[in-house]
Amino acid sequence: MYAAATAPTGPAPGPPAPDGRPHTVGFDQYSLLIDGKRVVLWSGEVHPFRLPSPSLWRDVLQKMRAHGYNAVSIYVSWNYHSPAPGSYDFTGVRDLDLFLRIAAETGLYVILRPGPYINAEVDAGGFPGWLTATEGTARTSDPTYLSYVDEWLTAVDRIAARHLFTRGDGTIVLYQVENEYADHVTSPLGRDYMAHLYAKVRADGIDVPLFHNDKGRNGHWAPGTFDTGGETGRWLYGFDGYPSPSAPPPDWGYFGVGGVKGGSTASPRTPGFVPEFGGGWFDPWGGAEFDGKGYAESRRTRDAAYERRFYLTNLANGIKLHNVYMTFGGTSWGWLPAPIVYTSYDYGAALDEARQPTAKLVPMHQLGHLLQSVPELAKLDRADDVTIDEAGGEGGADLGIKGIEGIKAYHLVNPDTKAHFHVLRNDTSDDRRVSLHLDSETSVTVPVPGLDARLIATGIALGRRRLRYSSAQPMLWLTAGRQDIAVFTGRPGDPTETLLECASKPKVTVLEGTARYAYTDGALRVDAEPGAAARVLVEGGGATAPLLLLFADDEASARLWRYDTPSGSVLVRGPALLRTATVRGTTVHLAGDTVKDADLEVWAPRGVSDVVWNRRTVRTRATASGSLRAVRRLPGAPKVTLPALTGWRRQAENPESAADFDDSAWRTADRTSSYSTTPVPTGGPVLFSDDYGFHYGDVWYRGRFEGGSVADTVSFSYVTGTQGLLMAWLDGKPLGTHRMPVPDKKTVRKGTWSATATFPVEVRETTDAGPHVLAVLVRRMQHDEDGKANDSHKAGRGLSSVTFNGASPEVSWRIQGEAAPDPVRGPLNNGGLYGERNGWHLPGFADGRWPAADFPRSERRQGVTWYRTGFRLTVDPEVDASIGLTLTDDDPARAYRVQIFLNGWNMGQYINDVGPQHTFVLPNGVLNTRGPNTLALAVLSDGTTSSGPGKVELTLLGRAAGGVPVTLVDSPGRRN
Ligand code: GAL
Repeated sequence: MYAAATAPTGPAPGPPAPDGRPHTVGFDQYSLLIDGKRVVLWSGEVHPFRLPSPSLWRDVLQKMRAHGYNAVSIYVSWNYHSPAPGSYDFTGVRDLDLFLRIAAETGLYVILRPGPYINAEVDAGGFPGWLTATEGTARTSDPTYLSYVDEWLTAVDRIAARHLFTRGDGTIVLYQVENEYADHVTSPLGRDYMAHLYAKVRADGIDVPLFHNDKGRNGHWAPGTFDTGGETGRWLYGFDGYPSPSAPPPDWGYFGVGGVKGGSTASPRTPGFVPEFGGGWFDPWGGAEFDGKGYAESRRTRDAAYERRFYLTNLANGIKLHNVYMTFGGTSWGWLPAPIVYTSYDYGAALDEARQPTAKLVPMHQLGHLLQSVPELAKLDRADDVTIDEAGGEGGADLGIKGIEGIKAYHLVNPDTKAHFHVLRNDTSDDRRVSLHLDSETSVTVPVPGLDARLIATGIALGRRRLRYSSAQPMLWLTAGRQDIAVFTGRPGDPTETLLECASKPKVTVLEGTARYAYTDGALRVDAEPGAAARVLVEGGGATAPLLLLFADDEASARLWRYDTPSGSVLVRGPALLRTATVRGTTVHLAGDTVKDADLEVWAPRGVSDVVWNRRTVRTRATASGSLRAVRRLPGAPKVTLPALTGWRRQAENPESAADFDDSAWRTADRTSSYSTTPVPTGGPVLFSDDYGFHYGDVWYRGRFEGGSVADTVSFSYVTGTQGLLMAWLDGKPLGTHRMPVPDKKTVRKGTWSATATFPVEVRETTDAGPHVLAVLVRRMQHDEDGKANDSHKAGRGLSSVTFNGASPEVSWRIQGEAAPDPVRGPLNNGGLYGERNGWHLPGFADGRWPAADFPRSERRQGVTWYRTGFRLTVDPEVDASIGLTLTDDDPARAYRVQIFLNGWNMGQYINDVGPQHTFVLPNGVLNTRGPNTLALAVLSDGTTSSGPGKVELTLLGRAAGGVPVTLVDSPGRRN
C-alpha cells in the first residue's frame, strides 16, 4: 500500500500587496523565503519599454496573474530614459514608478533588471546613444564608464527604492545587476566592476537579494566569487537557459552531471534559479530564424507541449525561481530594436504582441496555479529512481528495468511532508502510456503524449484531505466558502484514477459528467475522464468539509480562475479572463473579459450571495456544487468594424540632395578623433554620426569640393547594422543606392556591417570645375549590442570615408541627423529625415496643400516620400479591440521601406523586399480607439525598382468585451 505522508503544510502565501508593513525576503538552498514562507517564483518577462501605453501594462499584468504567474521580471533600458548624459526621464510611457505600482496592485512580485547593460535585442544592448561616443571601455571597471553607470543607477534606484517589498511599499523582491556577463570573469576589470555595482545598488538603499544571470550554468558570479561587501547571504546565483527545442531538455540540476552540488544552482547554498528561460525566440530581419515564417513558427517550435516538457524538467531539477523570457514580448518600436531584429518582438511568447492569449498560456496556467496552491513543491529533494514500464507492454518492473526507451522519469520528495512528485517526460513523438510504480504494490497508468510531459503527485494536501495519488495532473486546490475544491487536468477521454485518503466511507455524488467510485483500503477511488464538466462531490469520510473534485481538460482548465481576496479565495469558471475579484458585503464584484458568450459560475467565500460582472448584477442560482451560476450566459464581444484608409496625401522630400540646398546650419564634420571601435581613416575627418551627437535613424551628409581633376568613380565606405543602406547624389543627380546584403541565419550574427559603395561619376576638369556637392543619406539602423563586453556598441555608424578614383579633391563635410529628442515620445522616436526634422510625422502638421494620392503606388525614385491620412475609430469603450496596420505589396521584390508614424509615434519599419513583418501592432492609447488618428508613412525607396506602398489597411488582431480603461498617451501635434 502506498505510504501515507505526514501532516499537511499550510496553504502557500497569497499574492503580495503593498501593505505598508515591513517584510523579509530571504532564501535557503531550496527556495525564496518571503516572510519566512517558501515561495516558488513563477515569473514572466515583460518589457515596459516594448509597450508604449501605460494603461495596457495593467492588461498584460492582469492576464499574467490570472494565468498563474506570481511574478513579473522587467528590464529597464538605459537608452529609453536617457537622451543625454545627466538627463534621465521617467515620465509618460517611461513611468517606471507607475509600472511598479500597477504590478503591486495586480499582486505580482517584481524582479527588477536595470542593467546597466541588458542586451535584450535593443539598440546597443540598452546603452544610450551618447555612451557610444564616450571614453573608456564599457562593462568594465573603467572610471569614466562607472561614473555614467552611477548616474543611471542613482536615477533608477531612486524609484526602485520606493517599491521594495521589504518596506511594504511595493513588490520588488529581487534585483539583477549586469546581464550575462561572461567576459572579464576572473580579471579585476570584471570583478571590480561587479563589486562596484553591488556596492552602488546597496548604497542606493536596495535591500532585497541581488543576483546576476550567468550566461549558462558556468558558476560565474556565484556567491563568494567577488566582493559583495561581506554580505554572502544576500546574493543569489542564477543562470540563463535557452536550450534547443528539438533536443531533449537538459538536466541542469538534481539530475544533471554533478548532482545537487554545482547542480541546479552551481551554488549549493542558494536555490535553483533561472532568471531567463526561453519561452520563445527572436526572429532576425528577413525571418532567417524561422524560414521566413515569422513568430508563428517561433510559437510552433516552442509550443505548449515544449513548455510542459522543459519547464517540468526544470522543476524536477530543483529550479524554484523560474522566469520565462518572454511572456509578453511586445514591440521594438521606433529605433529601439538592435539591428538583428525587426520591429515585432512577439517572440512566440505565451501572450502575443497584440496582447492575445495563445495556447501556450494553458500549461503556464496549470503549472502556475499548481505551484501556488501546493506548497509541498517549494521544498524538494531528489528521491530514489522509480520503475516505469510501458503500460500494457512487457513487465519492466519484473525485469528490474528502471526506464523505458524515450521516457524519462524524475522522482522527488518533500523531506518534511513526504509528498512525492514524479515528472514523466516523453522524448519520442509517439503518444505513450506509462505505467509508474509508486511502490511495490501500487502502480498507475499515465498517458504521456508525444514530446510532452506530465506531473504526478502523491501525498499532497487537498484542503482538509490528502491525496493518496492520482494519475491526473493536479492543478490547484482552494477553500471557497464551506468547501474545498481540487482541480485535476488531463486530456479529454483519458481515463484517470484518483485516490483520496478517507478514514471512513464518504458520501459521494457525481454532479456532472461520468465518474465511477469505490471505497477500499482507507481510500476513496474516483475514476473520471477529464472534460468540460466532470465533477464529483465528496462529503464526510473523516474530513470536516466537503471536497469538490473537478476533472478538466486543457480547454476547461484555462477557463477556471482562482483569485485570492482578503475575504477568502474565489474560483470562477467560464469567461475568457478574470481580471479581479473583490468581495464587498454579500456581493462578489468580478471584472474580466469575454470573447464568445460564456458561462459564469462562481465559488465564493462564505456569505456571498450576489454576483456582479463588469459592474452589472448577474442573476444567479445556487448549485449542488456549492457555486452560484449565472442564469444567462455572459454576452461575448460585439463585432468591431474598422474603416478603410483613404484620403491619402503625398509629398516627396529629400531637398538635402539638391545642389543648392542650404546646409549652413548643419554641423561641420571636422573632428579628427573618435572613441569608436571602427578606425578613423588616416587623414580624413571623423564622419561617424555618433561623434556629432546624432544617434538614431537616418543621417545626412553633404560634402563640397572643387573639380579640377578627372574622377571616374566615387566610393563611400560606410558602417551600419544589418539592413543599412546608403544613397548618394552628385550635384542633385542620383548616383545610386547601395544596400547591405540581406543576412541569412549564419551571417546575421556577424556583428558590424560595413561596405563600400562605388558609383560611376563624371567630374571632368574642363567642364566641371565645381564647386560640386555630394549628398549622402545613410540609414544606419542601430548600434550593435555589446554581448562580449568589447565595446561593439561603439562600432561606427554612418559614413567612414569617401574616395575618388582618379582624383583626390579636398571635401568639406557637413552632417545632419535627428533633431532634439521628442520630449514626450523619447529619444528613440526619430531619425534625421527632413520630414522628421520638420514634424511631418506629427498629428498637427498641416498637409492640406499636399496633393492627394491613392494606393497602390508605383513610382521610381531615389529618396524619401511621405504619405499622410487621418482616420476615426468608434470602438465601444467596453470593448478591447487590438488593432494593427498591415502593409502588403503584390510585388515582394520592390525595394522600398516604410516608417510608420501613428499620431507622431514611430511604430516601426516595414521593408517590402526583406520582411517578414507585414502587420504592425498599434497599441491602444497611442491609437485613439474613440476618435481621430493621424497616420504618416515615410517611404524610403532605392530607385532601383518602382516603389509602393501597395496596400495599407487596419487589421483586427483580437477583441474582447471587458478590457482595461485606456488613457490616451500624450501625442503632441507639434514640436515645441
Ligand atoms: C539572453 C539575454 C537577453 C536576450 C536573450 C535572447 O542571452 O540575456 O537579454 O538577449 O538572450 O532573446
